[in-house]
Amino acid sequence: MTGRSAVTVRVPAKVNVQLAVGGARADGFHDLANVFLAVGLYDEVTAVPAEALRVSATGPDVDRVPLDRTNLAARAAELLAARYGLEPRVHLHIAKDIPVAGGMAGGSADAAGALVACDALWGTGASRDELLAICAELGSDVPFSLVGGAALGLGRGELLTPLEVGGSFHWVFAVADGGLATPAVYREFDRLNAGVDVPEPVASEALRAALRAGDAVALAGALSNDLQAAALSLRPSLAATLDAGVAAGALAALVSGSGPTTAFLAKDADSAAVVAAALMASGTCRAARVAAGPVSGATVV
Ligand code: C5P
Repeated sequence: MTGRSAVTVRVPAKVNVQLAVGGARADGFHDLANVFLAVGLYDEVTAVPAEALRVSATGPDVDRVPLDRTNLAARAAELLAARYGLEPRVHLHIAKDIPVAGGMAGGSADAAGALVACDALWGTGASRDELLAICAELGSDVPFSLVGGAALGLGRGELLTPLEVGGSFHWVFAVADGGLATPAVYREFDRLNAGVDVPEPVASEALRAALRAGDAVALAGALSNDLQAAALSLRPSLAATLDAGVAAGALAALVSGSGPTTAFLAKDADSAAVVAAALMASGTCRAARVAAGPVSGATVV
């Protein structure tokens, strides 16, 4: 033990600026070319010593956050403890601001946050590579929540290469009522593509160039999400949200990851505020949040 009495870690949400999805693999996962961008909406995970593993949460969607060991944050503490021969005697408190089951990696953020918090609290001193390996075991998006910034994820999304970004991009996120389960969206992708020879996912060079240049207009032209049709098929009402944001002046609109959060790229911060206000007024979403990216990954505060 390090003698620390509490550690708080702040972890950002993500948007996928490219999500190219291949056919289903034998293990049920899909190969991806997944370009992640970390954006400034955050969950905070606080780890405090306790008699036994316990999870609590606060935030607008707290009734939809599991507080048992199915919470990825609890699993992160258990995995780290098991690696170091410890008991996971920790209370994890999650201050939740990232939409729950929204396609913005909120659960993954909490897992990465819990891992970094417990590592600091217990003084386990795990290396970056060990932490990344545990993240990959926890879920495909968890390694990116740890590193943040912008990165290309290959494999099932966990094999990361950092990407250079030449500026800040301004986004609006429209929060939908309720969530979508990621496995259900991938199943719908498979159903929609039954009988189709799905091509190998390939990272877009135009998109990488737009990120490097910090060019929002070029990025808008290169955004893509192969899960969007599946998310819209399961939640047709998202089409009206996408239309409302574009009508309000967004450069481009797309479903964030597996949805149902929708993401709108704006020209600048002022335009993002206008788009957010119009989305709220449109009645096509529950809330509209403004956030810029890239931002850093899991950080002790
Ligand atoms: O890795 P993670 O636990 O977040 O994945 C959740 C589910 O999403 C998987 O069980 C699988 O159904 C689907 N998935 C997939 N291919 C990926 C990532 C996730 O099919 N590359």
